[in-house]
Amino acid sequence: MVINKICCIGAGYVGGPTCSVIALKCPKIRVTVVDKSTERIAQWNSEKLPIYEPGLDDVVKECRGRNLFFSTDIETAIKEADLIFISVNTPTKTFGNGKGRAADLKYVESAARMIADMATGDKIVVEKSTVPVRAAESILNILRANKKPGVSYQILSNPEFLAEGTAIDDLINADRVLIGGEDSPEGQAAIEKLCWVYEHWISRRNIITTNTWSSELSKLAANAFLAQRISSINSLSAVCEATGADISEVARAVGLDSRIGPKFLQASVGFGGSCFQKDILNLVYICECLNLPEVAAYWQQVIDMNEYQKSRFSAKVIESLFNTVTDKKITILGFAFKKNTGDTRESPAIHVSTTLLDEGAKLHIYDPKVEPSQILEDLTHPSVTEEPEKVKKSIEIHSDAYTATKGTHAIVLCTEWDEFVTLDYQRIYNGMMKPAYIFDGRKILDHEALMKIGFQVQTIGAGRLSYGRSWLHPSLATLLLQCNKVH
Ligand code: UDX
Ligand code: UDX
Repeated sequence: MVINKICCIGAGYVGGPTCSVIALKCPKIRVTVVDKSTERIAQWNSEKLPIYEPGLDDVVKECRGRNLFFSTDIETAIKEADLIFISVNTPTKTFGNGKGRAADLKYVESAARMIADMATGDKIVVEKSTVPVRAAESILNILRANKKPGVSYQILSNPEFLAEGTAIDDLINADRVLIGGEDSPEGQAAIEKLCWVYEHWISRRNIITTNTWSSELSKLAANAFLAQRISSINSLSAVCEATGADISEVARAVGLDSRIGPKFLQASVGFGGSCFQKDILNLVYICECLNLPEVAAYWQQVIDMNEYQKSRFSAKVIESLFNTVTDKKITILGFAFKKNTGDTRESPAIHVSTTLLDEGAKLHIYDPKVEPSQILEDLTHPSVTEEPEKVKKSIEIHSDAYTATKGTHAIVLCTEWDEFVTLDYQRIYNGMMKPAYIFDGRKILDHEALMKIGFQVQTIGAGRLSYGRSWLHPSLATLLLQCNKVH
């Protein structure tokens, strides 16, 4: 039972870290990660890797050139490999049938066609990319229809559960590894071979084997459940803001129920990232295609609530700044979709920034890890503006939080970077226009301390804060007053 050589097609956020950890833990396996982008491969072979991920640099340094290789020679890597991971991206379709919801499988299909063209001998093809249920069947159809003599294929589904920012730890200490395959002796043999790879560092008890379709659906289900928790807590944050309850206290009380658990109950400006929205839209589309409209509507609501949360937060900023932000200078602290990554895909900061720019604000943006070119690309993309030149003139990107806040009217915190907690807020306050506002979209700052300094503070899931007393929504205050009169 040996796999000597592994090839991974797609050197992105999933393929790169996953294969680096496989190379680290399986020194006898030669792992080659290939990509059609020469630029990306050059970056993987350089001192500055194309993605920021804590711990990744060390793993790559240890393995690169030993048993880990990054290459654009896709053909040789496919020919030599016993096992091939497909880790290309699967974005939401932007046109045609299922536009805006279905997963676009063109890259997965092209990877399958490349394998069919180039492969010799027996290959195990593993879908790592998140795909719609029964996508493995399509891959298999392509491979078997183009099969050359002497070549045989087994398709496995092995979805990745790593989260960006903690990818290396998630891979090394995975809660579970999921492998789905065909219910035939050949399918089971292929599953065993992939199990053997993971067993170099994951206990067999934590490796779950299922049929292919269960495995594909489990990945969509896991992301849908995680996103659903965030939308649930965010929906209640709106109730808190209207009543004076505090969402952190509610989350703590609810999370202490061991059946519910404390994780993923952090109310926020909304979830972002490359997976949640895309995978839930995909699930919704699948349900509609299966004629399950009630199920589709149920999951769609998780996305709708997230849109509502992002809009609600942006509206709160504008409303608090006297209903106009035209020509006001506003600092955006954090642009990545979460801390410890430079990734901005579906980042709520894009939504908030775009709304403020539409209202005529001048933005001063700072993020510790996102490249300025990426921020510019995100805010001038045709999907968010028709006036890219105007946007360029309205944003300034800074290399630290102090220059980004100098002379601005308000700070809008969009990403929960640790360094934002320990900034010298007295110094920041001194340099800002007055009244100075802070909108904490992640609930990470010490609001009492900020109010003591003199800041006007607003956050998610708490009534308007004022030093020393809590604030009641006017409609609730009136209601309470009426009740008191009756009694
Ligand atoms: C992954 C998963 O694969 C996706 O299914 C999941 O839902 C999100 O995460 P990710 O690694 O984040 O995608 O994507 P990305 O960082 O864009 O990397 C994909 C890589 O594949 C890119 O470097 C791209 O150049 C490469 N690619 C794409 C190819 O080499 N060939 C192709 O035909 C298409
Ligand atoms: C997610 C899944 O966690 C991972 O298993 C899957 O493989 C890929 O998709 P990722 O998107 O990288 O990972 O990060 P995650 O930590 O899940 O955060 C997603 C978004 O939710 C971020 O914007 C984060 O800030 C937000 N979030 C998370 C909250 O708003 N509140 C929470 O309590 C947790």
